[in-house]
Amino acid sequence: MTYLVISTSLNPNSQSYILALETVKRLQQYGTVDFVDLRQVNLPHCDGDKALSHRNVKRLAARIEKARCVILAVPIYNYDVGSVVKNMIELTGDAWQEKTVGFLSAAGGKSSFMAVSGLAMSLVFDFRCLLIPNFVYADRSSFDKGVLVDKRALARMDDLVDSARRLAGVGISGRPSPRALAAKVV
Ligand SMILES: Cc1cc2nc3c(=O)[nH]c(=O)nc-3n(C[C@H](O)[C@H](O)[C@H](O)COP(=O)(O)O)c2cc1C
Repeated sequence: MTYLVISTSLNPNSQSYILALETVKRLQQYGTVDFVDLRQVNLPHCDGDKALSHRNVKRLAARIEKARCVILAVPIYNYDVGSVVKNMIELTGDAWQEKTVGFLSAAGGKSSFMAVSGLAMSLVFDFRCLLIPNFVYADRSSFDKGVLVDKRALARMDDLVDSARRLAGVGISGRPSPRALAAKVV
């Protein structure tokens, strides 16, 4: 099984990045884990035109295609996910077909816990993604000196990883999709 964790915050002191690293450690028990930190990848803004064939977009799309399951670590801005993750999905489009997708989100406070809903549903409708129903939501009180200490968030992360392992092996139809078979990601 190939997992991909993408950390989408550009903040040098990102807390969702900490969630991403913790998740990578857990997933490594179950398969190959690729990791992308978008602070290290220079992506253009999606213009619906030339940006789509940018070298870094193609490279990232290839890594997404290769994964069976993608976990997105996102910062919450304005009661929604930050724009960087939306831009990345616009750029990489069809690479998302039928992926099993999970979310890790970092917020300032406790009231934005449904912020991933819009993006999550767009992945379902646009690319027939299968959502992992265990979401991780951590606010600033969940961290102490750069370490995730919130027991509930840690438990949710364990549940997310467990669901990722079970759901990514199944896919949306209960069997590997023709696309997954063709791309040899089963
Ligand atoms: C522009 C901006 C908007 C934000 N909006 C929210 C918000 O709506 N709800 C919230 O709980 N936190 C909000 N925050 C706080 C961030 O979610 C918090 O800093 C979080 O740690 C961001 O994730 P990161 O550390 O991985 O970048 C906002 C922060 C910024 C910079």
